[in-house]
Amino acid sequence: MGIALPALTPAQESLFLTLGGRALDSRLPHPFLGDAMADEILGRTGYDLSRFPALASRLMDERTRVFDIAVRAKRLDEVVGGFVARHPGALVLDLGAGLDGRVFRVDPPDGVEWYDVDFPEIVALRRHLLPERAGAHHLAADLTDPHWLDAVPADRPTVIVADGLIGFLSQDDLVALLNRLTHHFSGGDLAFNAYTTYAVWALKHLRGFAAITGGVANPGFNDPHAPERWAPRLRLVEEIFLTRAPELAHMSLGGRLAARLVAPSPTLSRMVGTTILHYRF
Ligand SMILES: C[S@@+](CC[C@H](N)C(=O)[O-])C[C@H]1O[C@@H](n2cnc3c(N)ncnc32)[C@H](O)[C@@H]1O
Repeated sequence: MGIALPALTPAQESLFLTLGGRALDSRLPHPFLGDAMADEILGRTGYDLSRFPALASRLMDERTRVFDIAVRAKRLDEVVGGFVARHPGALVLDLGAGLDGRVFRVDPPDGVEWYDVDFPEIVALRRHLLPERAGAHHLAADLTDPHWLDAVPADRPTVIVADGLIGFLSQDDLVALLNRLTHHFSGGDLAFNAYTTYAVWALKHLRGFAAITGGVANPGFNDPHAPERWAPRLRLVEEIFLTRAPELAHMSLGGRLAARLVAPSPTLSRMVGTTILHYRF
């Protein structure tokens, strides 16, 4: 028996796909990410993960099912962890944080201010389910609201991360958000998992994601330089292909071979695997 969950929109419910993926990863004998808190939080919600058949697909083994979710979280943790190590007085924004305890995984030094942003309904759940931590703040906001950043200090080196968010923003809302962020802060880094046109197609058409199909609002994009045109202060630093992740060494032979086949091609890697885009402004 879990807590009473509020009615969730498909975009909000999507947090259980990523939380569930990290929880299942943590149960593996040799997890990719090893976030035991994700499993504990999932258990306390009582959420029924069978709403996401993709997490139990018989077409994949148990490591393949969680690989993208767990390893992309790990790569984004590394971007944030590297930034706060270089800038001990940094500000971290986790946009569309859901019930993710990234701040506990990254464990930033004292002096870092961390803001987890999500809709008010989700922030209420966060407050109930996640432990408090010095320097970590919950910010209840709709990221499409032009004024949500007003309460966030603008004068610190800033790293912004968005894990699983941008597929749920319309193109106009995404472009407005990127411009709002890059004008509010004097400078910083931004990293998110890309939603290619193929990934958006898959989310909209594969039965395994039916619970959240209705929330997918972005058409997706395949050119990692496109955001530089939408928000001219952004510069691409790195495109990280999970088809080249060292963690693939711990996948099945089939998974390793498939990744090895597509990894040399950025186009194929973007199509079949997860990509992390890392920008600076
Ligand atoms: C796929 S979930 C990812 C959650 C979390 N980052 C994780 O990795 O578990 C997407 C999250 O984005 C949030 N979200 C989507 N659109 C939003 C908006 N306009 N404003 C605030 N949060 C939003 C949803 O509520 C949800 O928690």
